[in-house]
Amino acid sequence: MKRIGVLTSGGDAPGMNAAIRAVVRTAIFYNLEVMGIRRGYAGLIEGDFIELNSNSVSDIMQRGGTFLLSARCEEFATKEGRKKAAEQLRKRNIDGLVVIGGDGSLTGAEYLYQEQGIAYIGIPGTIDNDLAGTDITIGFDTAMNTIVDAINKIRDTATSHERNFIIETMGRISGFLTVMAGLAGGADALLIPEQTVSIDEICDKLAKRQKEGRLHSIVLVAEGYGGNFRTNRDINESPAYGIARRIAELTGQETRVIILGHLQRGGSPTVMDRILASKLGAKAVKLLMEGQASKMVGLVGNKLEACSIKDVLKKKKEIDLELYELHRILSI
Ligand code: F6P
Repeated sequence: MKRIGVLTSGGDAPGMNAAIRAVVRTAIFYNLEVMGIRRGYAGLIEGDFIELNSNSVSDIMQRGGTFLLSARCEEFATKEGRKKAAEQLRKRNIDGLVVIGGDGSLTGAEYLYQEQGIAYIGIPGTIDNDLAGTDITIGFDTAMNTIVDAINKIRDTATSHERNFIIETMGRISGFLTVMAGLAGGADALLIPEQTVSIDEICDKLAKRQKEGRLHSIVLVAEGYGGNFRTNRDINESPAYGIARRIAELTGQETRVIILGHLQRGGSPTVMDRILASKLGAKAVKLLMEGQASKMVGLVGNKLEACSIKDVLKKKKEIDLELYELHRILSI
């Protein structure tokens, strides 16, 4: 192996820059050349490559987003698109790829491997934490901290005006962010895709809280609550508004909505995310050098592990129901 490529794909996540930095510097340390591929698979198909050296990744560790840019690419979902992508790599003598992204990005990399024999190692980068094969994904910790910070701030104004707030978090298919941030932020009720809690139950709780003299209630709702899978990000599909209307009708309490949206994807990565990204980036390069492919490197029980991508993609990572239950107990 003489030359590798690195790209970020799908939704960006804080810590992706730290992962790119680790990939580039580890590769250079072991005398490999590194090409950066801009705009994910879209840039791969178009041949948007840049040579990376140690200097190219200076001063990026602390920045959110991804300096290689990211995209969701429809052409790469076609066999023809993937053939073009492989040709771009072969033309530049790139022997292996490091792909940083979520399940869609890793699925794409696997197709490229199966059809075109392009070796790759995946790094889990998504704020959703919804990938099996790792306890935690890059960006999750920062996003949780962002949500908790938002809850703290909303709490101030909610108390002053004696209002409820419905705070919508990201997570189309999973409630990881909602449960963990809800527990840490002291939310009063959680609505996630994995659990069926009715709005009536929430209303009973909110009415009881008011009777007890509580000045506000905070309900955290994951964007995918109630099987709501937004594809076009139409704000009218947000579950939060309907929930707020219903709560206001049933309880008579003033109830406002805030959709945190892409705010959760930005910001300087936390120490945890920077360290995780640095470890995963370095390990991915070492795995490629050992001749491994079609794997994702993850952190399992505080140890780095390479998991076959097929296992990663076929398993659904379940939220920690004990934490969900703990939240229920602590939010009485
Ligand atoms: O997968 C990460 C994520 O931020 C999800 O939480 C969210 O549903 C989705 O991406 C939003 O994607 P986009 O930025 O393409 O609208």
